[in-house]
Amino acid sequence: MRRKLAAGNWKMNGTAASLSEVEALAKAHPAPKSEVLICPPATLVAQMAWKAKGGPVRVGGQDCHAKVSGAHTGDISAAMLKDAGASHVILGHSERRADHGETDAEVRAKAEAALAAGLVAVICLGETEAERDAGKTLGIIGSQLAGSVPEGAAAANTVIAYEPVWAIGTGRTPTLEQISEVHDFLRAELAKRFADSDGFRLLYGGSVKPSNAAEIFATSNVDGALVGGASLKAADFGAILAALDAA
Ligand code: PGA
Repeated sequence: MRRKLAAGNWKMNGTAASLSEVEALAKAHPAPKSEVLICPPATLVAQMAWKAKGGPVRVGGQDCHAKVSGAHTGDISAAMLKDAGASHVILGHSERRADHGETDAEVRAKAEAALAAGLVAVICLGETEAERDAGKTLGIIGSQLAGSVPEGAAAANTVIAYEPVWAIGTGRTPTLEQISEVHDFLRAELAKRFADSDGFRLLYGGSVKPSNAAEIFATSNVDGALVGGASLKAADFGAILAALDAA
């Protein structure tokens, strides 16, 4: 049985005042069935982990460097995130692939670092609109999966998030058939490499909101969501969490 996961990605949003949203979420959902994760900007990881201690919300980073330490100004290592109280780290988000030119090989190296530090890696994959229109979706997803997920991955330390680039922050979502096609494909591809492929959580991400969460969570091989905009407010993210618990 896979434990469902509601993951929030705050991206470059939030200051110390936003920590009240985490307290409100924990108060409204003290014992959810699903696992709950919020990945705030790096500046808030330690404070949020402190505030969330003992409650249902786990805290993650949004990126890490592939090395443990060294001369890499502005970067943060997986061990540092762990030290700050993080349990997870998002890797290979399409905004990092686009804004920072991250390749599959770099994402894989970061994932190896995350696993070595004892973090759960949430590895993101997704096609652009042009790739979907050209009928290349499964080919792109397959090669990103093969290139980004390290050999050391296992159900206990790795989560895969399918996030079509054209659905992120746009209010547009794929059809449920398109989501299940990709998620079923991911499950089958994982089975070729990993003995415990059935245990890997597969998240859908891209314009998930309270109004569409229930139908997305009823889709085959969807084990939760990676939520951007709608994770910033406890009321919205709480509604998504409630839909996941009910699925
Ligand atoms: P969105 O972002 O929910 O705002 O579309 C999702 C993501 O980028 O993880």
